[in-house]
Amino acid sequence: MKATEVVLPAVGEPESLELRVRDLPKPGPGQALVRVEASGVTFAEQQMRRGKYYDMPKFPFVPGYDLVGVVEELGSPESGPVTVGQRVAALTKTGGWADHVLLDAADLVPVPQGITAAEAETLVTNGATAWRMLFRTAKVRGGDTVLVHGANGGVGSLLVQLARSSGIHVIGTASARNQEAVATMGATPVDYRGDVPARVRELAPGGVAAVFDHVGGRSVDDSWRLLAPGGTLVSYGSASTRDRTGSGTVAVLKLVAKLATWNALPNGRHAYFFNLWAGKARRPERYRAQLREDLTRIFGLLGAGAIETRIDRIYPLREAAAALRHAESGTVVGKVVIAPGAGHGD
Ligand SMILES: NC(=O)c1ccc[n+]([C@@H]2O[C@H](COP(=O)([O-])OP(=O)(O)OC[C@H]3O[C@@H](n4cnc5c(N)ncnc54)[C@H](OP(=O)(O)O)[C@@H]3O)[C@@H](O)[C@H]2O)c1
Repeated sequence: MKATEVVLPAVGEPESLELRVRDLPKPGPGQALVRVEASGVTFAEQQMRRGKYYDMPKFPFVPGYDLVGVVEELGSPESGPVTVGQRVAALTKTGGWADHVLLDAADLVPVPQGITAAEAETLVTNGATAWRMLFRTAKVRGGDTVLVHGANGGVGSLLVQLARSSGIHVIGTASARNQEAVATMGATPVDYRGDVPARVRELAPGGVAAVFDHVGGRSVDDSWRLLAPGGTLVSYGSASTRDRTGSGTVAVLKLVAKLATWNALPNGRHAYFFNLWAGKARRPERYRAQLREDLTRIFGLLGAGAIETRIDRIYPLREAAAALRHAESGTVVGKVVIAPGAGHGD
């Protein structure tokens, strides 16, 4: 069968993306052929097109960090927890911007009925990242107060909502235009262009139980100082360095070294660099089981109305360049979704 996919050929502007059609072999043992209903634009593609994502593949490659689709064919009858015709979600890092993909069936997570493909897609990368950081890394609990940077972003808005749904108090930084949206999710908004440490100290004089920081640079130093005794800093990006020249890997390695030094200090506080993929190569079975458990919980919370998804706009596959350009425009509220069927009456 033929698959249509979007290729990032080299470092370049979004308009350099190319559409290609290639033969897709039949699924081998343990594989599943999935018809993609929705993928999305994450911050990772914004870094990848600049050649700055810290463990990106060699060019050319097909971007697409996650996807939701329908299983069309299985390579072997016992292919994990999925069946033909089932809607599934997958975390792929690359490859999702296509209309059909071959994936390991064991990596697929069933999507419950009552949730659309686009809704589910908004929860895969962002939801798994938020859940793992809150409950597996920082291990925060009801009654704690945490600081979420970029509280209106993709990961940030899920950190806020998942924390709030567990009774955790949230202080959330955002730009002036997003203060109201952050308050609506139940967090106390703080303008990140103001004096964030001073404002957080007013709101939480004893410090916070955890800080989730994707900004990097000087923000990480401030975040560390805002922790209460026993608190945990979870750093998970260096968004502030996106437009700087130089290696993304070096920036992350410097950050990781700084956090490791802090973590070694005998002061009862913890500092980690979170990597969504950590453990996948070393303990794949455990990683898959945890991902399935976490996504199933998050889909359940959406189904129960405890969290909401926000979709900014849905683009057809052939307009991936416009989708990426829009995602970088600084005007987005919610997820930019790429749906191969969009615009075809599906
Ligand atoms: N380590 C991992 O495994 C992992 C996994 C997933 C994502 N990530 C990282 O997570 C980060 C967020 O990804 P995303 O998809 O959620 O991006 P996103 O939707 O673009 O959200 C980013 C948010 O950052 C906010 N922001 C910009 N400058 C800021 C500043 N100086 N202080 C505080 N907030 C600021 C923006 O707020 P306004 O809109 O209000 O300006 C925006 O809401 C990226 O750096 C990505 O690489 C890491």
